Amino acid sequence: MSEYLNDTFKTIHNRKTVRHFTEQTISDELLLELVKAGMAAPTALNTQPWEFIIINDKNTMKKFAGSLQFSKMLDSATSAIVVCTNPEKANGKHMDFAVIDATLASENILLAAESLGLGGAWVALHPKDVAVTYIRGELGIPESIVPLNIIPLGYPTGSEHVKDKFNPDIIHYEKW
Ligand SMILES: Cc1cc2nc3c(=O)[nH]c(=O)nc-3n(C[C@H](O)[C@H](O)[C@H](O)COP(=O)(O)O)c2cc1C
Repeated sequence: MSEYLNDTFKTIHNRKTVRHFTEQTISDELLLELVKAGMAAPTALNTQPWEFIIINDKNTMKKFAGSLQFSKMLDSATSAIVVCTNPEKANGKHMDFAVIDATLASENILLAAESLGLGGAWVALHPKDVAVTYIRGELGIPESIVPLNIIPLGYPTGSEHVKDKFNPDIIHYEKW
């Protein structure tokens, strides 16, 4: 990495999906900071169509780990954030804008977690209808709200490493 790159770049480049966590719990204060980072993301027409559910109950996370595809890491996560979006509030009530906006909030949360020495992952809900219906039922989420993902969180064991994805072949200058 070039020597002139700052801490923000370091956080961006060090973020990785973390699926293994220690038993150390995350303070309520830090969890709130993560959600605040989510709410700092840009949204189309500044509509901020998102809602967040913070989960600290291990039983809930273990239950989800046993019921949702590709979510085993919820077994060892100490907290989780469900990022939801409300298409009724999004630009033009458009589902695509709603999802894009909540995606940006989610990435902010993942980057903020990395910057605090925490780890997280994106567990897909939308557009998997079965998963969306299951989580709506478990968490009492209204039909009009779309849960986009669950972000399991915790302090990483250190077993995950950054993947180098840089590929100069897919960069175009001036024209394709
Ligand atoms: C839209 C989306 C859905 C994903 N769904 C899952 C998932 O359900 N379970 C999971 O373990 N990881 C999931 N991931 C994480 C990806 O597997 C991961 O980001 C990818 O392998 C790249 O690794 P990195 O995040 O360490 O760079 C998802 C990521 C995105 C962006």
